Amino acid sequence: MKLNIALLAGDGIGPEVIDQAVKVSNAVAKKFGHEINWTPALTGAAAIDAVGEPYPDETHEVCANADAVLFGAIGHPRFDNDPSAKVRPEQGLLKMRQKLGLFANVRPTFTFPSLIDKSPLKRERIEGTDLIILRELTGGVYFGERGRKDNGNTAFDTMTYQRFEIERLARKGFEMALKRSKKLCCVDKANVLESSRLWRETVQNMEKEYPEVEVSYEFVDAVAMRLVQWPKAYDVIITANLFGDILTDEASVISGSMGLMPSSSVGSKVSLYEPIHGSYPQAAGKNIANPLATVLSAAMLFEDLDLIDEAEVIRAVVNKSLAEGIVTEDLAEGGKSYGTSDVGDWLASNI
Ligand code: IPM
Ligand code: MN
Repeated sequence: MKLNIALLAGDGIGPEVIDQAVKVSNAVAKKFGHEINWTPALTGAAAIDAVGEPYPDETHEVCANADAVLFGAIGHPRFDNDPSAKVRPEQGLLKMRQKLGLFANVRPTFTFPSLIDKSPLKRERIEGTDLIILRELTGGVYFGERGRKDNGNTAFDTMTYQRFEIERLARKGFEMALKRSKKLCCVDKANVLESSRLWRETVQNMEKEYPEVEVSYEFVDAVAMRLVQWPKAYDVIITANLFGDILTDEASVISGSMGLMPSSSVGSKVSLYEPIHGSYPQAAGKNIANPLATVLSAAMLFEDLDLIDEAEVIRAVVNKSLAEGIVTEDLAEGGKSYGTSDVGDWLASNI
């Protein structure tokens, strides 16, 4: 098979972790007789520096015409401390999600047997956790009406949802639940927010189309608590953009390191694959960042293109590296650690 993949390394540790995912993907392609054509394109602070725009039109063209997009990370501290900055790297990510129509963000949380004791949570609470948070990605407060009034002394961001936005996300959730343990949890704040009441109403109306799926409704504050108390209570969670943003960072600690969890952002056409972690600027250029979340994102990419064995080979080699202690310093606990590129080389040569 011939694959055209857009390669958006982005900022901070993005280029380093992306390099490892490319190595591993190329090794997989070689093993299975595929040909991958990588097309690099600029995004984030790197794109602002080069062309003044975090998601340039040329980058959009590359992404829109690719079979998939592999993405590193976006963000730079020089913008975080400057509230007056007109152009921010993060806007690139938001624009990309919107222009590519990536409305469903799939963020799994699972544990690795060899890393259970690295988690800040007790073994018995987390062992066997396997859940997916399906976060709505192109609506809600991220894209609602916003602004200032009252001479700049009042600021507002509105959380708006249309029924069709909730429905298409929920449909993915129902379909996903059907393939898993047939449990779906709609997470909202329907005791306070009108948009959440529309979420509940919409999902309730869809229940009859999926009689096999057991649906529950929970408030986001309670879920934030239960996720760390008993994550095994959940299988597929559907939720709004901001709630999903917060809950997925929280859920990512269950596995033991933020550097482990992959994600996909799915639309009607091209999909994007990226690690859940951010650009981690403190580690940029030091060859210490954990590349596994990006490598596992490449596995999700193969799987979505129906290359299931290819995805499994990647997951197996990642498990092997963890079991054999070929890990970056975040997982080494003072023991022997390896550089980002060493881990990538090891994975590629063990494919
Ligand atoms: C994420 C990030 C982004 C978000 C930022 C960088 C805009 O935190 O992908 O979760 O809030 O969606
Ligand atoms: Mn986030």
